[in-house]
Amino acid sequence: MCYRKAVIYYLSGTGNSFRVSCWMAQHASDSGVDVKMVSVNDAEPVRELDASTETLLALVFPTHGFTAPWHMIKFALRLPRRRPTHAFCLATRAGLRLGRLYPPGISGSATFLIALILFLKGYRVRGTAATDMPSNWYSLHPIQGEKSVEQIRKRAKVRTRTSMARILDGRRLWFTWNNLYEVILGILLSYISFLYLIKGRFFLAKLFFANRNCDGCGICATNCPVGAIDMKGSGVKWPFWRYNCESCMKCAAFCPQNAIEAGHSWAAILIYIVVFPATGFLLVLLATYLPTGDWSGNSTLVFVLEFILFYPVLYLSYFVFSRLLRVSPINRLFSLTTFTHLPSWGRYREPETRLKDLRSSKK
Ligand SMILES: Cc1cc2nc3c(=O)[nH]c(=O)nc-3n(C[C@H](O)[C@H](O)[C@H](O)COP(=O)(O)O)c2cc1C
Ligand code: SF4
Ligand code: SF4
Repeated sequence: MCYRKAVIYYLSGTGNSFRVSCWMAQHASDSGVDVKMVSVNDAEPVRELDASTETLLALVFPTHGFTAPWHMIKFALRLPRRRPTHAFCLATRAGLRLGRLYPPGISGSATFLIALILFLKGYRVRGTAATDMPSNWYSLHPIQGEKSVEQIRKRAKVRTRTSMARILDGRRLWFTWNNLYEVILGILLSYISFLYLIKGRFFLAKLFFANRNCDGCGICATNCPVGAIDMKGSGVKWPFWRYNCESCMKCAAFCPQNAIEAGHSWAAILIYIVVFPATGFLLVLLATYLPTGDWSGNSTLVFVLEFILFYPVLYLSYFVFSRLLRVSPINRLFSLTTFTHLPSWGRYREPETRLKDLRSSKK
């Protein structure tokens, strides 16, 4: 065995990356490695990571928008410089089961971006891998049935252990079919990943709302890994999603009342509000006060205007929306017009993972 010690830092919303880290830790421990698993929220890398080639640093995290979640990017940027320490990055991604087929998810630039940050910090990155776990993105699609979830997990466990075995044996994990697939897609989809990081994740955060089943217990707010939920209101308090929400789906997965919806009808209205009228309004202003040409034909200008207006308009719209939701018939209307309200749509959480497993010890 090449390593004496391994430190696995994980970020996980609904338990997939946590479970994959457990499998990695189990394999390392079975191989005689002294292994430590730490949530990125509890991490103290300066103390935990030795500057030694006998220590392996592993980072495990979900894919969001074909790249790494912003919370993970920030964590990697904050890691201390450790010249000889070896590192390994693994992203979990959305695995599917379609009959006998198991199409892979796309982690795109997720692991390469984190690997690059580690490389620039002096780590010797030994390779990257991706594991297909059941998709948790319930705002986009219905959750797969129990049997599919079980089959995907089984395959994921084997794959994870194979990747870990290879790294622990001191071999590199760069020239694989999976990495080739991800490099190509990562490059092709990099524009979408960029848009996801600067806009998409904020938009997604502002789709969440609690339906009338919410009893104000506050479990969602206390357990959010990035503290993105404020409980607001007099009397029974209701969750309000802030901009720093990472759309990790943890709150929705563990809400005891299944009260958290991702508003689809609201998304349609929001797109209209955020993109069209606000930009149109500014273009009219420009055309009135600077009448030197057809501003609406200037795509760079339209892009810049949209970019500047996006955040305040989104914030204001959500603020008004969250107030309106307090009116019972309005809340009901938006609940009934979102797919996530359908009982068959489902909420995903990794079957063996409990909320306490994902709780930060610092809380
Ligand atoms: C907002 C969001 C974006 C996602 N984007 C992708 C993606 O681009 N590609 C992919 O394969 N899976 C994607 N997924 C699926 C998750 O990466 C996958 O289910 C992961 O295993 C979840 O891990 P966790 O339970 O540790 O958070 C996305 C999930 C969410 C919630
Ligand atoms: S966990 Fe569910 S029921 Fe509790 S406050 Fe959050 S949304 Fe409401
Ligand atoms: S608010 Fe919910 S979805 Fe957003 S980061 Fe917190 S737990 Fe995750």
